[in-house]
Amino acid sequence: MSELLITGGSGFIGSHTCLVLLEAGHRLIVIDNYSNSSPRALERVAELAGVANKECLKIFVGDVRNSEALDLAFRSAEDRIDGVIHFAGLKAAGESFKKPLEYWDVNLGGTRCLLDAMVRHSCRTIVFSSTATLYGHSAQLPITENAEVRPINPYGNSKAAVEMLLADIASHEAGWRIACLRYFNPVGAHSSGEIGEDPKGTPDNLFPFISQVAVGRRDQLSVFGGDWPTPDGSCIRDYIHVMDLAEGHNAALDVLQREKPQLLTLNLGSGVGYSVLEVVREFEKVTGKKIPYIIRARRLGDAPCTVADPTKATKCLGWQTRRSLSDICRDGWSWQKKYPFGYDPPQK
Ligand SMILES: NC(=O)c1ccc[n+]([C@@H]2O[C@H](COP(=O)([O-])OP(=O)(O)OC[C@H]3O[C@@H](n4cnc5c(N)ncnc54)[C@H](O)[C@@H]3O)[C@@H](O)[C@H]2O)c1
Repeated sequence: MSELLITGGSGFIGSHTCLVLLEAGHRLIVIDNYSNSSPRALERVAELAGVANKECLKIFVGDVRNSEALDLAFRSAEDRIDGVIHFAGLKAAGESFKKPLEYWDVNLGGTRCLLDAMVRHSCRTIVFSSTATLYGHSAQLPITENAEVRPINPYGNSKAAVEMLLADIASHEAGWRIACLRYFNPVGAHSSGEIGEDPKGTPDNLFPFISQVAVGRRDQLSVFGGDWPTPDGSCIRDYIHVMDLAEGHNAALDVLQREKPQLLTLNLGSGVGYSVLEVVREFEKVTGKKIPYIIRARRLGDAPCTVADPTKATKCLGWQTRRSLSDICRDGWSWQKKYPFGYDPPQK
């Protein structure tokens, strides 16, 4: 059992990972400023995990750019945090063109502040939420970790900068145990339908958009680009069930804690790509819901095809995805059907 600090633990990936970690017997301290999440998510996580004891899940409302807030969180565990999982960050590639400064501030500035706090409190183990966006328009398919890092938007640039910072620390300071996990496309929800993805405003990603159409919140799905160089003209992505991703974090922490200090850079994906139109058809098949869609212009900063080669993660972590696209559609729909307006429905 470890004592872990989870930044951004109330968000989509963070909440599912908190559940997996609590079920594995870890004690968690979460720091989140709720800029893109609801306090309800962790209440549900506590219920699902059967954690009545507040000692197992402590929650601090705070910003990772605020050193005092971080100090408070570390001190609440009497400076005995065994490791950090750093989810807190901004993640919308499109939005990052409009707010580059904010993306660099939260993603790089927030990480720097967190690393400073870790040093102050003698913790040198961190799992970082990185992204396949780093690979940009990769010529290599499937993409291995050796592919060139060449982001095509400010979001990807800010994540690449954090990876460089972590690599410098790992090379020049002793004792760091670091995992940069490059997620492909996290989707789906916990099979209970009690927790899931709850984006604010118009969804930037395909799955929440599809399920909001299915539940009647939106009239039709916008498919960005029908003329990409792919078999049906729509983009191809590697969709990874969020519970598989959550289990990947548990496995990465385990390996970091067990092995000698190291920097691990790993793709977390399924290794299988589906086009947007294939996903629409699978979602319709699994849910019985018709998804009307319209093909729109390509979006700035999108790549035609990204599919992971997850071989290294399987080798290093003994982990691989277990859930299919059909599981993703079923679980994502179960969440959306149960909570059509997410965690905080509008007041009547
Ligand atoms: N979801 C994806 O498609 C995807 C893909 C690749 C990488 N990632 C990365 O994974 C991480 C988690 O993604 P997610 O999908 O769960 O996003 P999310 O927005 O649902 O979760 C992020 C959480 O961090 C919190 N947060 C944001 N800024 C903060 C700050 N300054 N201080 C404290 N808390 C803050 C938010 O309130 C939210 O709870 C992010 O760093 C994201 O860049 C996500």
